[in-house]
Amino acid sequence: MTPMKTLVGLAAGAALTMSAWAADPVKIGLILPMSGPFAAYGKQIEHGIKLYIAQHGDTYGGRKVEFVLKDDNPGTSGDIDKRLAQELVVKDKVDLLAGFGLTPSAFAVAPLATEARKPMIVMNAATSAITTKSPYIVRTSMTLPQNTAPIASWAAKNGIKTVFTLVADYGPGHDSEAQFKKTFTAAGGQIVGEVRAPVKNPDFAPYLQKIKDTKPDAVFIFLPPGAETIAFMKGFKERGLAQAGIRLISTGDLPDEDILDAIGDSALGLITSFHYSEAHKSPENQAYVAAYYKAYPKDRPNFMSVGGYDGMHLIAAVLNKTGGSTDADKFVDAAKGIKWTSPRGPIGIDPETRDIVQNIYIRKTERVDGKLQNVEFDQVDNFKDPGKQ
Ligand code: PHB
Repeated sequence: MTPMKTLVGLAAGAALTMSAWAADPVKIGLILPMSGPFAAYGKQIEHGIKLYIAQHGDTYGGRKVEFVLKDDNPGTSGDIDKRLAQELVVKDKVDLLAGFGLTPSAFAVAPLATEARKPMIVMNAATSAITTKSPYIVRTSMTLPQNTAPIASWAAKNGIKTVFTLVADYGPGHDSEAQFKKTFTAAGGQIVGEVRAPVKNPDFAPYLQKIKDTKPDAVFIFLPPGAETIAFMKGFKERGLAQAGIRLISTGDLPDEDILDAIGDSALGLITSFHYSEAHKSPENQAYVAAYYKAYPKDRPNFMSVGGYDGMHLIAAVLNKTGGSTDADKFVDAAKGIKWTSPRGPIGIDPETRDIVQNIYIRKTERVDGKLQNVEFDQVDNFKDPGKQ
């Protein structure tokens, strides 16, 4: 073969490979709890992803996106997640890994993302350290320190001098406990008690009694939303903590729209800090909420649905930038520093940490047109995860 022929042959071969590659769909392996105690997480994240595709189409950077969905019920056993992620990479040959409802699943899959060089888009799991566990992780949800520092500052500025903390005994609970303590004591507040409750089947009665006996100005809580949160709120009411003058403050995980109607009126007056509220006043959110109810009339849009919607936006925007390449380094480089307007407000990906930068809003739970809503009344702009500092 002459050098000329080699060149032509190579070029033709390359073109062939290129067009075959361009026509290939991008396979996205989704790992979410779709059944069991945290099934609502998977449902909401999937709703958000599907809504994004329904509004913007399924082709980005010249490639169609396809999903392979795996249920990691209960979402708290990393062993299940590890096995599912291995299956997705080896058998299903996915290009991207995405979803991750709870922290243990993200922690378990991170080493595989690094080893297999797969971009990993975290759409909910919110322990600060998750993004440090692989250079290929990008997060579109939030972190607990990011949502805790603003409510701790608010408490210190609003006459709360003593706080008892109660958190779920795993990553996000530990993060929120540490950040609350740090911010609140730096502002002159005092922590008068702290307790960590099991993630599954906690009995809140002894904790509630202890809190009542300690008589703090307020209790700060973080629990992953679900049946336990509803049980906690019921116990708080039944044991008369509010009547004893003890206020309740938390991150917005507590009055999550997905469980807010089940909590009912005992949520009225609750002050929380969070990155998303169904009641957020912006044209983007109005459009999101209207589209959500049209597609899913039985559910309420919540922060997890927005984590999925924005996660899909991130994938779409990155594929458009890379011309469809899912190479892990190219994908993550393209994600760094990206900014857009989400239903929650302006957001971006911090180029240094690959974590989300967003406004955190202070809200009060009120009835609006007969419906319980988290009404925003103050905000901290473009807030980075303080857990990384
Ligand atoms: C988590 O497991 O990381 C998690 C779950 C639910 C939340 C927040 C964090 O609301």
